[in-house]
Amino acid sequence: MLDRFEVEGGKPLKGAVTCSGSKNAALPLMAAALMAEGVTTLENVPDLADIHTMAMVLRFIGADVKLEGGTLTIDASNCRSSEAPYELVRKMRASFYVLGPLLYRFGRARVSLPGGCALGPRPVDLHIKGVKKLGCDIQIDAGYVVAKAERLRGARVLFDISSVGATGNVIMAALAADGVTVIDNAACEPEIVELAQMLVAMGAEIRGIGANRLEVAGPARLKPVRWKVIPDRIVAGTYLTAGVITGGSVTVNACRPDHLTMLLDKLDEAGAHVAIAGNSVTVSVEADKRLKAVDVTTAVYPGFPTDLQAPWTALMALADGTSIITDTIYPERFSHVPELSRLGAKIQKELNSIHIEGVPRLTGASVMCSDIRAGAGLVLATIAAQGRSDVLRVYHMDRGYERLEQNLTSLGAKLNRVRE
Ligand code: EPZ
Repeated sequence: MLDRFEVEGGKPLKGAVTCSGSKNAALPLMAAALMAEGVTTLENVPDLADIHTMAMVLRFIGADVKLEGGTLTIDASNCRSSEAPYELVRKMRASFYVLGPLLYRFGRARVSLPGGCALGPRPVDLHIKGVKKLGCDIQIDAGYVVAKAERLRGARVLFDISSVGATGNVIMAALAADGVTVIDNAACEPEIVELAQMLVAMGAEIRGIGANRLEVAGPARLKPVRWKVIPDRIVAGTYLTAGVITGGSVTVNACRPDHLTMLLDKLDEAGAHVAIAGNSVTVSVEADKRLKAVDVTTAVYPGFPTDLQAPWTALMALADGTSIITDTIYPERFSHVPELSRLGAKIQKELNSIHIEGVPRLTGASVMCSDIRAGAGLVLATIAAQGRSDVLRVYHMDRGYERLEQNLTSLGAKLNRVRE
């Protein structure tokens, strides 16, 4: 369970990988499948620990769920329970996405509060405020959110922070309400666009998809659909950054370059060569060229994604010059920083920012992952570092990167998993 990667760093990556389907798009789509009796089929679903956790949540509720070769079928005909238990929600916060669908299906829900998170405080107050606005009664009982709604009514929901998960939950709950719900400061992330589009295909009426004001008409009668999940922009961005940090040339096929604009702009600014051809992106760096230091501030889409902050930190640790990285989404998401220091990176933390003084080389050491993307940053740093590293606790990465070691090995990285 506590597998580690043995890495022999310093080899430029070369070649092509195929991007997997998006975990963070698939998770709310799986929850949305509860809203239609019958069989929903999702294609291009990555085979990841988090997908299996959500499958367990849906099974607990009574759905029949199967994942075979990237195709997930969810038969929600016989759902009986309106509960998501602590044992599952604490494993994966995205389980909280079933709140809206359960309210839609049963008019009630009992969903565990997720509790703490390695990324820092991640409350669910906006989810709760949003459904309360629709007329839902909420009580907190023994660590659970107990939601009851005889009848929900369309309302105006103004989020004070743009939240991916709260936007998703309120859209889904609003489909049970009488009348129109207007969501202002709604999240515009591609994963929320995807959710709204699948709900429209299921029979919902949603206007403003992709903008920060959404109008959701209720009540809607939803039918099951067959849907293909979008490519994972964070996975694509991670492999591209891996190519650049090792001074190589990497192509990511089957991705959505339009979802990667900010990263590609930053890579270009740092001096990498970026080429887009249809659904493929290739990045490369001239031999022996050191990248320039480039500052990054994470922000909601289309800003720089917080989920690529750790890989960017690894890249900047080796850049020529000093850079500042600020995470406005998760101000405490810097657990990779002390680990990068073990490889020789020069990084100072100050409030929600880090100041990086790029060094010409990193050297191998043992490092430990504490979340999915911190792990990705550490793997990138170790494949670029000179010599041998051990990356501990790779189970975090198994939550978000399908076939990570196979893909990196196919690009020429020397990395193997040691099962322990
Ligand atoms: C989603 O989390 C992603 N998870 C995260 O990816 C990603 O980092 C995050 O969006 C930001 O892009 C999934 O899609 C499953 P938010 P989510 O609500 O929806 C605050 C990964 O590595 N907030 O948009 O939970 C919150 O603390 C994961 O794949 C509240 O204050 O994120 C944060 O500062 C990690 N109250 C900000 O809003 C709330 O009720 C944005 O969070 C909800 C959020």
